[in-house]
Amino acid sequence: MSTGTIKLALIGCGLIGAEHIRAWEAVARVADMPFEVIAVCDSERELAERAAREIARWQRANVTVHTRYEDLLGENLDGLDVCLPTHLHEEIVCAALAAGISVMVEKPLATTVAAGERMRQSALSAGRTLSLAENHRRTPTIRTLRWLVQEVGLLGSPEMVQAQRVRHQPAPPRAGWRARRASGGGGWAIDNGAHLLDALAYVLGPVRSVTATGKRIQDAEVIHSDDQIGFDEREDFLTALLVFENGTTGIFSCVSSLPGADDFCFAIRGTKGAIVDDGGQLFHAPLPGARVLLSDGRQQTLRDFHDPYMDGLSTNQRERFFPFGLQDGFAVECAEFLIAIRDGSDVEIDSDSALRTLATSLAFYESALTQTTILVSDVLDGQVSAYQESMGSRHSEIDFARWRTRMTLPAGKGEI
Ligand SMILES: NC(=O)c1ccc[n+]([C@@H]2O[C@H](COP(=O)([O-])OP(=O)(O)OC[C@H]3O[C@@H](n4cnc5c(N)ncnc54)[C@H](O)[C@@H]3O)[C@@H](O)[C@H]2O)c1
Repeated sequence: MSTGTIKLALIGCGLIGAEHIRAWEAVARVADMPFEVIAVCDSERELAERAAREIARWQRANVTVHTRYEDLLGENLDGLDVCLPTHLHEEIVCAALAAGISVMVEKPLATTVAAGERMRQSALSAGRTLSLAENHRRTPTIRTLRWLVQEVGLLGSPEMVQAQRVRHQPAPPRAGWRARRASGGGGWAIDNGAHLLDALAYVLGPVRSVTATGKRIQDAEVIHSDDQIGFDEREDFLTALLVFENGTTGIFSCVSSLPGADDFCFAIRGTKGAIVDDGGQLFHAPLPGARVLLSDGRQQTLRDFHDPYMDGLSTNQRERFFPFGLQDGFAVECAEFLIAIRDGSDVEIDSDSALRTLATSLAFYESALTQTTILVSDVLDGQVSAYQESMGSRHSEIDFARWRTRMTLPAGKGEI
């Protein structure tokens, strides 16, 4: 619990850091509780200075600029918003928690389950909040979808999920931190796929098992962020079968390497009808305009159910799901973090829930590597980890011919 003005800082002033600053501004406009972003940190001073100027535009108090996280943690902070490349989450989150600072960290929680578990343990021993910044499920669209499927039972028994994105997107020659497995953890399944998997777990419950194929088809030579020439280690072809604990079956394809017509489809189908979106983007799906097609002939859109959902919420649910009346997913996650610091209340996506989604993403890779069906629980408890253990090695020596055929380990690590 915290009384008085809550003191926050943000580390990582890149792409998503800018989005978080916009969200904190939205919270500041409506929240009836005092808070200040007192400091920002980025290893690139210019980016940190730009972020500090942007915050100072809507916040009267000054913002201190740091380039090293050790100095940032020396500030008198209640909460830290972590928007760093994924492989850096663990060190900084654990250091902040050990210093008694609550943390909100961007998805995915970490690059490996072992790292995520250490973060979970750090939060438990420090007795501080660790919240996952996942914006998609916190939107009215995904909350309405969950309500329709779980509470209204509009689709009857959910039996099938289809999620497919096929397109041709040549890899950029200059790759950032995402192009190395060691820093990004992998490609779509762990990066943007984290949103989709979190939303599906929210709507349908946890995934039990995964059977996947993953490979890289396009020429993979890139210039890495440290100017070394190497391989883009992300898959550009992934297709998988998922079985949820509730028996729903999911079919996923995410392919960015095949020319021809772009194709998108997202659908949840049950015994009484389906919600089908074939006009959006896989990772931000389904959109409000998704069609709701029922066995009694009714045809509506997901948007039609938005008001009935909102109208049916109790005051408590409304305050919890849309604090201060906010409906933007980024702003909601920030507001919820602030309230958790003030009241010591639970957060919606704690480290247990974040770890489960991470393990589901990683199960794609463990399955593609071993060519077997993988139980998410085996990834979660560390019994299956060959892919994750290979991450420390550089893949510059990867045999591209084998990588074209199937997911591989770095040279010297052998093939499973
Ligand atoms: N919620 C979403 O929709 C969403 C979208 C994009 C990214 N993300 C997540 O946000 C995180 C960051 O992604 P991004 O796209 O913003 O990356 P980015 O590369 O744009 O920004 C990362 C920033 O961290 C800084 N940085 C790197 N090392 C640092 C260090 N040691 N100390 C201080 N600063 C350091 C970099 O200079 C850069 O400005 C990732 O975990 C990613 O998965 C989430």
